Amino acid sequence: MATIIDGKKIALEIRAELKEKVSWLKSLNIRVPGLVTILVGENAASQSYVTSKSKACNEIGMLSKIEKLPTETTEEHLLGLIDHYNSNDDYHGILVQLPLPKHINEDKVIERIAPEKDVDGFHPISVGRLVIGKDTFYPCTPNGVLELLKRYKIETSGKHVVVVGRSNIVGKPVANMLLQKKDGANAIVTVCHSASKDLTRFTKDADILIAAIGKPNFITADMVKDGVAVIDVGINRVEDSSSPKGYKIVGDVDFENVSKKASFITPVPGGVGPMTIAMLLQNTFLAYIKITKQKLT
Ligand code: GUN
Repeated sequence: MATIIDGKKIALEIRAELKEKVSWLKSLNIRVPGLVTILVGENAASQSYVTSKSKACNEIGMLSKIEKLPTETTEEHLLGLIDHYNSNDDYHGILVQLPLPKHINEDKVIERIAPEKDVDGFHPISVGRLVIGKDTFYPCTPNGVLELLKRYKIETSGKHVVVVGRSNIVGKPVANMLLQKKDGANAIVTVCHSASKDLTRFTKDADILIAAIGKPNFITADMVKDGVAVIDVGINRVEDSSSPKGYKIVGDVDFENVSKKASFITPVPGGVGPMTIAMLLQNTFLAYIKITKQKLT
């Protein structure tokens, strides 16, 4: 039976570590790290994500602000607001919650965020720096995956990592991060996707399998080898008449059966999910350190 990777516990540990650092800053009576989150429109899931991010900031003593804008906000107005926060010394991280309404060009918005405040790690400069192995902000969910591997002492160097999914938010960055020649990475990486033929040929060879394809219970026990470490990034809603809500959240992996073969496995919920916010707080703290250091030198 696999060791269940407790993402909730690790995320709480990271938040406690950051809280201590912020308390120390407070004791010196100096500015604390600040995150501004910009939400455009009424998307219910986005509203709930933004609230959780802001609450998490407050809990560890960071400054947090939510800029809530109506759906009909113009691109020009949004870009102007980003300019405002780019040059505001109280906020070291800027996060524009995605998706944006259709009339706003997402690429243009992401590119307007000052790279030194890009705590999502979505700016093309951040992405480019990640690929060539330079210091940058790692996107939060992939960073959470690497942190879980590290904290559970799952060796990645020289191991075959198979990533299923090639999104810009998870699949591509996590593959590039694990490919880097450094501690906690140095892996042999294969990326599979919707056009991959005979997927099992690849997944069966994985020492570490990262599922980020967005299909409920897609990875089944016959697709993995004994002893594999499985990281499930999927968050899928499926009907469940036994739940008062009428649905439940499941991952991309058939947890019940794959856990019988795996050495390690993340549950859904409670695996990678809680790590995303912890990594956002960590990136905001990092941005603060970089920006304040720059101002001192
Ligand atoms: N929408 C869903 N996930 C994310 C995320 O990690 N960052 C932003 N900015 N928007 C999202």
